[in-house]
Amino acid sequence: MVEPYPDRAAAIAGFAAHVNRGKTRALEAIGVDIVIGDRSGARFQDAYNGRWYWNCHCNGGVFNLGHRNPAVVDAVRRGLERLDVGNHHLISGHRAHLAEQLSASTGGLLPFAVFTPSGTESVDLALRLARAHTGRAGIVAATGAYHGLSGFALAASDPRWFDPFGPVPEGFTHVAYNDPDAIEGAIGPGTAAVILESIPATLGFPAPAPGYLETVAGAARDAGALLILDEVQTGLGRTGTNWYFEQQGVAPDMVITGKGLGGGVYPVSAVLLRPELEDFFDANPFAYVSTFGGAEIGCVAASAVMDQISELGFLERVERLGQRFEDGFDGMPFTLRRFGLTMGLAFDEEGGGVIAAKKLIDAGVFAVYAEHDHSVTQFKPPLIVTEAEVDEIVATARAALG
Ligand SMILES: Cc1ncc(COP(=O)(O)O)c(C=O)c1O
Repeated sequence: MVEPYPDRAAAIAGFAAHVNRGKTRALEAIGVDIVIGDRSGARFQDAYNGRWYWNCHCNGGVFNLGHRNPAVVDAVRRGLERLDVGNHHLISGHRAHLAEQLSASTGGLLPFAVFTPSGTESVDLALRLARAHTGRAGIVAATGAYHGLSGFALAASDPRWFDPFGPVPEGFTHVAYNDPDAIEGAIGPGTAAVILESIPATLGFPAPAPGYLETVAGAARDAGALLILDEVQTGLGRTGTNWYFEQQGVAPDMVITGKGLGGGVYPVSAVLLRPELEDFFDANPFAYVSTFGGAEIGCVAASAVMDQISELGFLERVERLGQRFEDGFDGMPFTLRRFGLTMGLAFDEEGGGVIAAKKLIDAGVFAVYAEHDHSVTQFKPPLIVTEAEVDEIVATARAALG
């Protein structure tokens, strides 16, 4: 594939002139001028100097199965022989099959899937559905949360994201994450739903305190409110189980998934629902329609993703590789927060996560800092890394950060 611009300077100038001037300036200021080019497996390459980077951010999980995962690419190629995005007015076997796979991944707890093109739209839909189902308006969310940047998802995210845009819809309350008293105090008879990321990504992956999610689930249940868990980053095997909620002994009413679901090649996202929540669509079958939600070619990609995740030994391997990172990072100047292959490198000093991310990028390991906690570097290698690759990444990171 030939790059559309002859050199780096022209590509950067084109981006600044026609896409985002501020982003270009910000990247320039920190000395990151990578133009992403070819990509394969756990790495991507700079388009102009040929340098390869280990992708230890994976766009929050989009590249869980690596870049251009061969089985996903093959499924999409074969799919393109006869499919396209499909027709959202009609019954689709491809959508049904993917929903069935997703249901199986929850052990049948959440047997219905409503498909959307993005995590943001899925969160938005889940919150609307919670209001319709309960007849209440209140939504309780966490400060420091990130659920997407439009509609109700924006209103549920940390206030810093919606502040520039004036008033958001009424009914949203934000409380500190991991504070059981605060959230119990916020949930009441007017609460339709509590929405939380199972492990808040932009807060730097703080583990839920022991019993926290159970307390939240209990408080929601007692108040007749729903529990929505945003597993856009933590689902699909990322933490060593299909879904992180399984490790916390809670049974959410709705789960949001996205990012890696489409295998990094086609956007697919979904809200997974308990049967009683489907009642609303039973009565109002056209209450949510989306031209591209559950596009059939995306379903084909996602089914190939689900096939791989459900292979025998896949999840155990995620945990084994996570442990290999943990062993390799022993003695490093950060506290490792680790859940399978979701990791946060937590430094003592504010800004430590930013400095570390830059050092890692310079050394050839792409990672980013946590937006709501600058002392943490998010570290999410693809789930398909080999043991030899883990060792190489660890050695590079040790040299960069040691
Ligand atoms: C936890 C979480 N929820 C929701 C979203 C929004 O997903 P999307 O960017 O696909 O709209 C993101 C995106 O980063 C996310 O990390």
